[in-house]
Amino acid sequence: MIDQRKLPAREIYVRCKTAAEVARAIKTMVIRGAPAIGVAAAMGIALGMRKSKATGTQKFAAEFQNVCDLMAGTRPTAVNLFWAIDRMKRTFAAAAQAGESVDQLKDRLDREAQLIHDEDVASCRAMGAFGAEVVPADAKILTHCNAGALATAGYGTALGVIRGAVESGKAVAVFADETRPFLQGARLTAWELVRDGIQTTVITDNMSGSLMRQGKVNFVVVGADRIAANGDTANKIGTYSVAVLAREHQIPFYVAAPLSTIDLKTPDGQHIPIEERNAREVTHVGGAQLAPDGAQVWNPAFDVTPHHLIAGIITERGIFRAPYIESLARAYSGH
Ligand code: MRU
Repeated sequence: MIDQRKLPAREIYVRCKTAAEVARAIKTMVIRGAPAIGVAAAMGIALGMRKSKATGTQKFAAEFQNVCDLMAGTRPTAVNLFWAIDRMKRTFAAAAQAGESVDQLKDRLDREAQLIHDEDVASCRAMGAFGAEVVPADAKILTHCNAGALATAGYGTALGVIRGAVESGKAVAVFADETRPFLQGARLTAWELVRDGIQTTVITDNMSGSLMRQGKVNFVVVGADRIAANGDTANKIGTYSVAVLAREHQIPFYVAAPLSTIDLKTPDGQHIPIEERNAREVTHVGGAQLAPDGAQVWNPAFDVTPHHLIAGIITERGIFRAPYIESLARAYSGH
């Protein structure tokens, strides 16, 4: 996997040879973004089990459970991680119940992980096509964090919508919020969009209000880490502020996410677990110290945007609108 901590300065690839290495890569943000960590966890489970020396299915099943637990302990907010682990568990259970051998089980897990990967790319493409329809013809789009190819198996969710709009012939200019403290917007979104030849302007997070006030934004689209049953959406810290500003300036605020990001078991945003990361991400940038020793730090990685601020949720099955409690339940039935 490409080491996302090093971009854009260096394009370095990390080779994971064990499940533990994959888990560490997720935890330390070598790879990040909700769908991408789900795919990585599934691949990590398949990799870990491929390396298993167990000869009997009982021992193999015990190891499988441990590897799943290892992946589940990496990051708490993005539900795609748990969704992917559950899918691997269901695949395992069905094959084990059918009496498959250890070698057959290994092949099944490989195939399922690959399928999760391939489906994610297809979902992003579908989101791109649906989302393109609601993007204005002369679009000035603000996005926050990175919900691009790097954050998925390819193409992206929010950036998939942007790519879809460009492919459909719309004129598109993008403003990328820098996204403190990890700088996913400046480092990753801008890197992706510039490579695609899409006009990109990086702003610091505190500039978006002024930008909107000057009429320079007519569409906002962001990704999501977990969407609760009522539509409340957890995404990168700072998303909520953007949504409030968009409402004040009457700019449509859209969320783009696959159905694997929708968590009907979580009733609302208050019940979404929010990861807190270490203080150093806030006090330092690169090697440079920005805040004095002794200052306390609060570093939540995500915030929750309440559903009433969201104009629509763009998925691979179409765009869902309020009341989300009904539209999301319908979207998910049969998924
Ligand atoms: O902490 P990160 O970088 O994993 O957070 C990523 C985001 O918040 C993304 O917007 C979200 O996962 C959607 S990615 C398609």
